[in-house]
Amino acid sequence: MSRLQVRSLTAADIPDAAILLARRHRAHRRDQPLLSPVYAEPDATATVLAEALAQPDASGALAVRGTDVVGFLLGAPKAAPSWGPNVWVEAAGQAVTYAEDIRDLYAFAAERWVAEGRTAHYVLAPASDTELVRSWFRLGFGHQHCHGLRALPTPDEVRAPRVVIRRAERADIPLLAELDLVLAQHQSLVPTFSAARVPELAETLKSWEDDFDDTDFATFVAEHEGRVVGSAIGCSLAKSGAHTTLARPDNAGFLGFAAVFPQARGLGVGRALGEAVGLWSAESGFSSYVTDWRVTNLLSSRAWPALGFAESFTRLHRLVGY
Ligand SMILES: CC(C)(COP(=O)(O)OP(=O)(O)OC[C@H]1O[C@@H](n2cnc3c(N)ncnc32)[C@H](O)[C@@H]1OP(=O)(O)O)[C@@H](O)C(=O)NCCC(=O)NCCS
Repeated sequence: MSRLQVRSLTAADIPDAAILLARRHRAHRRDQPLLSPVYAEPDATATVLAEALAQPDASGALAVRGTDVVGFLLGAPKAAPSWGPNVWVEAAGQAVTYAEDIRDLYAFAAERWVAEGRTAHYVLAPASDTELVRSWFRLGFGHQHCHGLRALPTPDEVRAPRVVIRRAERADIPLLAELDLVLAQHQSLVPTFSAARVPELAETLKSWEDDFDDTDFATFVAEHEGRVVGSAIGCSLAKSGAHTTLARPDNAGFLGFAAVFPQARGLGVGRALGEAVGLWSAESGFSSYVTDWRVTNLLSSRAWPALGFAESFTRLHRLVGY
């Protein structure tokens, strides 16, 4: 095999990178056929790569063996402070012919990222590409987050709920606002340690008062012994900023939020809420059903796979310098 040469990724490299990315996506769809067929074609991947490379402070690397382009890596920072001084390699940000070469691509690209002070690195990789994920592990990355995807449930397939599930009413707003805090507080605790800010109750109350009638979102509550103990929200996946380009199946429904008060967990409330959003997605004409979770969240990382969500993308994370 010819010696590997690595250099900066430029706009002129997009056609070659797009061919590699479309090939990666075709292999990924063999494991996850619900992923969009659109990105199996280099024309579509070239468009998303051009957009990604045009982002502020985007940069990356290209790998060549002889005359063959065998890989690329592309990252860009996000403005949100909870990710730290960051660079993200999004769903369209990498493809390699040989998984091992991602380590050389990272070695090249990360020199600039760290020199710019961006030491918190996030990478979305196809979950089925275990060789690629293992190469990232050998760069000091760990598994942080899962994107989950499943076919829509049918009414016959879901279990009869052991709690009452109904659409939320305005009178539920005080408990819906509390349940928003339940999720944020849970994620801030051991072992997830999310840096996302836990809002004040007054803020979540106001946002429910303002947005309750937004018909783009379907809110369900679960009642146990006459009291609301949990809630979940369904919407189009197009509303999510976390599932973009190759990680956005066409016309998918999204379980965007779910929380159960601590005293009511483990009773099947989360299952009943998740399945209600799944059935709503089917009734609303969506074609598949998506959610995501922190793998360090001991509750959601067990609940959502139990509901049949299979991992489509693996988010990896490394903090450089320690
Ligand atoms: C995640 C959450 C909504 C799940 O709700 P829940 O009412 O606790 O979940 P359920 O009792 O319905 O359990 C769901 C499934 O997880 C499984 N599960 C729960 N704990 C488990 C464990 N330790 N090991 C294996 N499976 C487990 C259950 O067995 C169940 O599957 P089953 O119905 O096939 O038996 C709830 O725990 C919660 O509010 N957590 C805090 C906030 C949060 O994490 N929200 C989700 C953000 S992505």
